[in-house]
Amino acid sequence: MTSVLFVCLGNICRSPLAEGVFTKLVSDNRLAKQVSVDSAGTGSWHTGNPPDKRAQTTALVHGIDISGFRARQVSLRDFDRFEYIIAMDNSNKSDLLNLSPKSAVHRVQLFMDFSSEFFSKEVPDPYYGGDEGFEQVFSMIETGSSGLLTEIKHHYF
Ligand code: 4NP
Repeated sequence: MTSVLFVCLGNICRSPLAEGVFTKLVSDNRLAKQVSVDSAGTGSWHTGNPPDKRAQTTALVHGIDISGFRARQVSLRDFDRFEYIIAMDNSNKSDLLNLSPKSAVHRVQLFMDFSSEFFSKEVPDPYYGGDEGFEQVFSMIETGSSGLLTEIKHHYF
């Protein structure tokens, strides 16, 4: 059993998309009982809100329904509960590292470090841009998810 938490700023665009994509990938690999998945934001402005409509639409176009997700803020307990704490960009990563107990610092990692195609890049914040930004973010999330699952399979299964 392992656990993954995706983290962005608002928890209404990037990290719910990542939660949706990764949950489907885990399920397609028949690992739903072994890998739990969640998402959160470093900020609290959108707590309780559903994902941004553009994120919902992008997910749905790819056959994934994230309309039932609700935003929440990262909490200290998350550093105990999740083995992989996956930041979308460097600012999310540094906020998480500032919040993290020393014992959990190694759990905080940049999402695209699991993607060979986008290695060490940031998943850009699509909130203030157009619809095409969400499609770009979606494809980055797909390759990162596949790399992350490969890493988890090597490590655990
Ligand atoms: P996210 O995008 O971090 O991918 O959920 C954002 C959503 C909202 C805001 C910023 C980024 N905001 O400033 O409200």
